[in-house]
Amino acid sequence: ITIYRQDYTVPPFLVDHIDLTFDLGPSVTQVKATTRLRHNPESESHDIVLYGEALELVKIVMNGKTLAKSDYATDNGELRIANVPDDVTLVVDTLIHPDQNTSLMGLYLSNGNFFTQCEAEGFRKITWYPDRPDVMATYTVTIRADKEKYPVLLSNGNLVETGDLPNNRHYAVWDDPFRKPSYLFALVAGNLVCREETFKLADGRDVLLQVWVEKNNLDKTAHAMESLKHSIRWDESRFGLELDLDRFMIVAVSDFNMGAMENKGLNIFNTRYILANPRVATDTDYANIESVVGHEYFHNWTGDRVTCRDWFQLSLKEGLTVFRDQEFSADLTGSDSGRAVKRIEDVRTLRQLQFPEDAGPMAHPVRPDAYQEINNFYTVTVYEKGAEVVRMYQTLFGRDGFRKGMDLYFSRHDGNAVTCNDFLAAMADANGRDLSQFERWYSQAGTPRVRLESHYDEKERTLTVSLSQFCPPTPGQTEKQPFLIPFAIGLLDSKGNDMPLRLKGGKDSGTSCILELSDASQTFTFVDVAEKPVISALRNFSAPVILEYEQSDDELLHLLSHDSDHFNRWEAGQRLAARRLVSLTKAVQDGQPLTLDTAFADAFRTVLSDTSLDAALRELALTLPSEMMVAERLDEIDPHAIHQARQFMRRTLAEKLEKEWRDAWDRNRTEGTYRPVPSDAGKRALKNLALSYLLALDNPVYCQMAIEQYNRADNMTDRLAALTSLVHSGCMNRHPEAKALLDDFYREFENEALVIDKWFSLQATSPHAGIETITTLMEHPAFTLKNPNRARSLIFGFCHNNMAQFHAADGSGYEFWSKNLIELDRINPQVAARLARCMDQWKRYIPSLRKPAEQALRHVSEQPLSRDTREIIEKTLSA
Ligand code: ARG
Ligand code: ZN
Repeated sequence: ITIYRQDYTVPPFLVDHIDLTFDLGPSVTQVKATTRLRHNPESESHDIVLYGEALELVKIVMNGKTLAKSDYATDNGELRIANVPDDVTLVVDTLIHPDQNTSLMGLYLSNGNFFTQCEAEGFRKITWYPDRPDVMATYTVTIRADKEKYPVLLSNGNLVETGDLPNNRHYAVWDDPFRKPSYLFALVAGNLVCREETFKLADGRDVLLQVWVEKNNLDKTAHAMESLKHSIRWDESRFGLELDLDRFMIVAVSDFNMGAMENKGLNIFNTRYILANPRVATDTDYANIESVVGHEYFHNWTGDRVTCRDWFQLSLKEGLTVFRDQEFSADLTGSDSGRAVKRIEDVRTLRQLQFPEDAGPMAHPVRPDAYQEINNFYTVTVYEKGAEVVRMYQTLFGRDGFRKGMDLYFSRHDGNAVTCNDFLAAMADANGRDLSQFERWYSQAGTPRVRLESHYDEKERTLTVSLSQFCPPTPGQTEKQPFLIPFAIGLLDSKGNDMPLRLKGGKDSGTSCILELSDASQTFTFVDVAEKPVISALRNFSAPVILEYEQSDDELLHLLSHDSDHFNRWEAGQRLAARRLVSLTKAVQDGQPLTLDTAFADAFRTVLSDTSLDAALRELALTLPSEMMVAERLDEIDPHAIHQARQFMRRTLAEKLEKEWRDAWDRNRTEGTYRPVPSDAGKRALKNLALSYLLALDNPVYCQMAIEQYNRADNMTDRLAALTSLVHSGCMNRHPEAKALLDDFYREFENEALVIDKWFSLQATSPHAGIETITTLMEHPAFTLKNPNRARSLIFGFCHNNMAQFHAADGSGYEFWSKNLIELDRINPQVAARLARCMDQWKRYIPSLRKPAEQALRHVSEQPLSRDTREIIEKTLSA
């Protein structure tokens, strides 16, 4: 069944308050829900509609009277009580079975402890309830459980009572005074310990901050706590938003479908976004923890205080909150180049993951119009493109204008469930702008292409810039209307300096300005342009579009060495590399000899040796576009040709710049104890990139160097980088020592689940790891499909991040995919549906791969499947 955005109707009944009582047991948990409902004057219907899934209903009592089966109708997960009076109290008794819940939605067990995940529609696996985000209630939650096995009992809000019960049981009562939808409900019970601190808010109030984990992980909670404190401070100072609770809790759980969840006052996290110390976590882990802790904390305002009216509006909270966490991480770097590094990383993710989504069978607008399973729409489009849409308001109105819009949004909607259009209206009204055209960013799918053409008139000293836009069709949307595109631009003179800008008939606009492209095509004229400039277009990636602008190698080289916009310096390097990777791929396909020009290698050499540039920026500039990025630029995807082309380029750059790479490896060692700060992390990144280039040379000296780095390392970043480089290079076959390191690593970290995930994934992504290697790893005692992190590390690592091997000519990779997808779907539909997405691009594969790909897809579609996986497979096959 498909649900449509247009079919939205208001809820017939609203809930004022719900009392929940849990008698926890792993195999049977009793749930008693007492709900006060009130007719919604805006609704014509007088039916109460409750949702439920996998529940054992014991009884329903309405206004004191037990309902008979004939008093209500159940159909497809809906329970309807018709013609109900205006005010009712409903008591619903149900039994649930946490130990049988492998979907990790609703109430489930992880390492013997109880956890919940309710977004989007998990609450209906706990009790019958109007489980929709526009029904907001206050909650009182009583938890009863065995005292020894479950000493810690947590839920949202404030702890109001605890005590003992007969039979070694105890209880806790929690009260959440803030009205919230059921998707923000949470419960945690088990044997956990916490790091806690009292923290002073800007208004002087003291709040209690806690990070709860299993006992053996307490030594990995410091960074999460630091990140939480930074988040609180940042939201106070940048947006004037304060923590509204006396207590804020974070809990880490090792079995979790997604990254983390913003339940009011009780955020629940995948352990991988909480646990860190130098021994087990990499710089990337540290950075991810900071941003995800920020993300969930920022949801307290953008998500919890103001929530979504319906799930089509998901990007209202997700796009906005991703934008906020991006800005948080950028601000925390404390420097302009740090901001640029963050921006480059975010755009890289967008291009690598969202652009293909927007061009594939699952393409959908930031605010989707229809879905079968909402969990399939927690996508890079809703999150990352949604964040770009929010960023464009800030680009158009400036930080101050954006802040005004935010303030108006909260003053209008605090405590309510609203829509993307409400957010747009607040931005428009606060800044006195008509933004009706801007709404198309929410309603139209697909990545717009912007073509730039320019003409310099030497005599008139004018530069005309013509911009035109076009958005390709996407499933269900053939015709698109023009978008409002903020297009940032700058002009460089021949020395590489920014030229002053003045638009015809306008004022001086500094050295960077925003052109607003709103028609299908438009021309802008700059006057007093002293010489023919090199155009720096779409600075800082001011809009989520594909720029089509032919620039010569010379122009790109000029930008790469001089652009004051760091983002575009990086971009110029990527364009130079991508251009060559595309022609190299074609050369591989045609059996032509492969060559790389000196000018390009020299440009890379210059960047590598330019010590005036931060190491982190150099590392980004010298990292070649991924195989996926190259695939994006080709009409037909030949994974092996792409892989060979990229390997050739890496090896050639390694040869030509060998001395410089050695120097970079030597000179970017960090001194003293490990610190996960941007400056040190940047050095490590550059050093380890140098190492991976050097290992492409097949020289035993460098294998030895990597082995030594591994043995000397006092932190996971350097250790993992050395091991990965070794495993992915030719060293493994040549050096018995190198092979031994894999076993050594396993033994050393056997008890650190997150590190064992890394162990699986570094092997699964190796270009040498064929299907036999993967099959052997699947049989390893530490492998299990039941734990999402583990399943992802090996299976997604192979199917998603190992292009060369997954697309084996005999179709064995696709067979592996279908077999595991079917098995995983019976355990965990949500994770399976993600795995299903690996085949998004199959129609663009070369013909010899298209056939086995289609076979694998058809085979899956013939099985009984969850709604989640069924939706993906059908869309993938039919598009
Ligand atoms: N709201 C969470 C976040 O972005 C994501 C939860 C998604 N969970 C799910 N089962 N779809 O922070
Ligand atoms: Zn979120």
